[in-house]
Amino acid sequence: MAAEFRNTADTYTAGARTLPQRYLTSPEIFAAEQQRIFAARWVCAAHVHELAEPGAFVLREVAGESLILVRGADGGVHCHYNVCRHRGSRMCERESGRFTGAIRCPYHSWTYELDGRLRAAPHMDGVPGFDHAGIALRSAQVGIWEGLVFVNVGREPTPFESAFAPLLGKFARWNLPLLRAARRIDYDVAANWKLLFENFSECYHCPGVHPALAKLTPYNKAENDLSEGPFLGGFMPIRSGGSITTSGNACALPLGALDAEEQGRVYYYSNFPNLLLSLHPDYAMVHTLWPRAPAQTTVRCEWLFHPDAFGRADFRPDDAVGFCDVTNRQDWHVCELNQQGVASRAYEPGPYSPRESIAAAFDREYLRAMCD
Ligand code: FES
Ligand SMILES: [Fe+2]
Repeated sequence: MAAEFRNTADTYTAGARTLPQRYLTSPEIFAAEQQRIFAARWVCAAHVHELAEPGAFVLREVAGESLILVRGADGGVHCHYNVCRHRGSRMCERESGRFTGAIRCPYHSWTYELDGRLRAAPHMDGVPGFDHAGIALRSAQVGIWEGLVFVNVGREPTPFESAFAPLLGKFARWNLPLLRAARRIDYDVAANWKLLFENFSECYHCPGVHPALAKLTPYNKAENDLSEGPFLGGFMPIRSGGSITTSGNACALPLGALDAEEQGRVYYYSNFPNLLLSLHPDYAMVHTLWPRAPAQTTVRCEWLFHPDAFGRADFRPDDAVGFCDVTNRQDWHVCELNQQGVASRAYEPGPYSPRESIAAAFDREYLRAMCD
């Protein structure tokens, strides 16, 4: 973990204000975001536990494109457009599952290898100009960082390794690639996705919105080591040996060989444009954001634990899930109130406090991405 942590207030830019209304309500800007951001950046789509065996797949929609993420027979993760190369039919309808060795289009039964190459096309042999070997599903690029699978549908994406260079090795001790999910909840939130990012990025709201959380982690003690750019965040202290749970105690084995300092912290990082990562000593909470409309976002939340924690008598995932679910809903509620207010003719950008320097940095990164 990089050592350069600074108090949230020390990274404050004087004069920072919230986003103008159009960025939070306009359908035209929402459509532009889909192209300039979600069709151009690395979007977090899954955790490798969902793609454990060859043939395991998940379906995701990124920038309006249906994508099949699948573990290949070669062990690699592939991302195919869900579009048949025959007459263009959507092929896969299930949100997740396991292909038995091949991907078959339901229309005329062209089948594809898991890596996308055409395996069989009935009655096409001998068709003039038909190049069986040259046909494969169109694919999008895939990158894996700490067990999280990212996709990019852009034509010329920033290479994954250079995009993620600031984070390489940063969280290795938390064992993220090995973790398994105990629970997943999808929340439909009537708020713009950026209001959710801003909410995650500050604890100014914690005493009023999360009184129980504020007892476990002092809201004014946030320190950040990433305070500008696509990756933002840092840590907040918790009682060493404790955790962010209903009981206040750890509820599972530690995620990794964390030192005493790390055991006494919860690390919060946001990853533009759709990942919020919360690393507690005993569990990781992964939020991915899926914008549906200017004022509608699906938030997928997964709780990940050490694989050896499962089945042990001291494993109490509900202690974490229950606490975070309450906290999540408190956040979504104020984000929905925020959305309702910013849609008013009375709204104008308001001043960020020094405790909201990361939210302001997120807005700056967003505006840079929109102007790229
Ligand atoms: S459209 Fe897929 S096989 Fe015909
Ligand atoms: Fe919150």
